[in-house]
Amino acid sequence: VDHESLGRTLVFIGFMGVGKTTVGELVADRLDVPFKDSDEEIVKAFDEMTIPEIFHTYGEQAFRNKEKETILQLIDAEKQVLSLGGGAFMQEAVRQKCLEEAVVIFLDMTFAAWKERFPELISSRPLLQTKSMAEIETLFAERRSLYDAHHIRVLTDEITPEEAAEQIFQSLE
Ligand code: S3P
Repeated sequence: VDHESLGRTLVFIGFMGVGKTTVGELVADRLDVPFKDSDEEIVKAFDEMTIPEIFHTYGEQAFRNKEKETILQLIDAEKQVLSLGGGAFMQEAVRQKCLEEAVVIFLDMTFAAWKERFPELISSRPLLQTKSMAEIETLFAERRSLYDAHHIRVLTDEITPEEAAEQIFQSLE
């Protein structure tokens, strides 16, 4: 991969638990650029509270405000790979900035495949804790329509994170 032609930050979007962080780290390693995760930066900003603690103590809106601020700042920093929390793209300002200034990579998955991951995700994702599976499926579909605005899409149902990273390199070339 020609580093010079990839002058932009790469941003990973997609639903909770699809592998944005895992694939993002692989891509960052191979490009030899820093990797950042918006959730991790938010946790640091809240003195290492967990995300469920932030939601329960300050509410979702406080989380979203910090999320927006964090992402807008990170995009303006050096070239990097940035993995976004699954809800970040709901915010218009985040969406616009990422689409204008970065390469947006959507890690897609069918709901059937995603459901198999659900048991591993619930304890760390407050939004999943208060919803029925039918409500989660609705959220999945609503989010998917926002993720439709992207530059590169990879369907991750039947491939490993390494294979997803490989497909991304091929699209970038
Ligand atoms: C959220 C996704 C999470 C995290 C928070 C809210 C969402 O990130 O930001 O729990 O609204 O979809 P992941 O996509 O990394 O799970």
